[in-house]
Amino acid sequence: MRTTISEMSTDETLYEQLGGRERIAAVVDEFYDRVTNDETVAGFFEDMDMAAQRAHMTQFLGSVAGGPVEYTGDEMRAAHEPLDLEQRHFDAVATHLDGALRAFDVPDETVEAVLGEVAALVDDVLCR
Ligand code: HEM
Repeated sequence: MRTTISEMSTDETLYEQLGGRERIAAVVDEFYDRVTNDETVAGFFEDMDMAAQRAHMTQFLGSVAGGPVEYTGDEMRAAHEPLDLEQRHFDAVATHLDGALRAFDVPDETVEAVLGEVAALVDDVLCR
């Protein structure tokens, strides 16, 4: 999956703006801490292998951000189809991603670019 790197006003990729793999992994840790502490969505992650989940999400965000990362997990629709998710679940998760990025002082513009990429996945995640 490619981002619209060439359309960005800076030469830096979104991946570089995010601070590369290590910082993305730290953001993902913060993100799942928030998700698993929110009763709207925590139930979906019970009994999950969170280490595998974190690793896949780190890869996924890295590749969405145009980094030199190969995502090896399931396709979004296939991964989420059995969960029967609703818009409010998607919104909660997007809010936690926003919060986690901001907790690491990622600049507004970069947060908005990442959230834009994630918003584009809504139909797949909600299987519409
Ligand atoms: C906001 C957009 C989302 C993105 C980018 C995303 C990303 C991912 C990724 C990369 C995986 C790993 C797939 C794999 O391991 O093969 C995954 C799995 C999963 N996601 Fe999401 N996700 C999103 C929204 C959500 C929402 C809204 C929920 C629930 C509230 C959710 C719950 C889960 C669960 C429970 C799994 C594990 C499924 C399983 O392995 O059985 N995700 N997601």
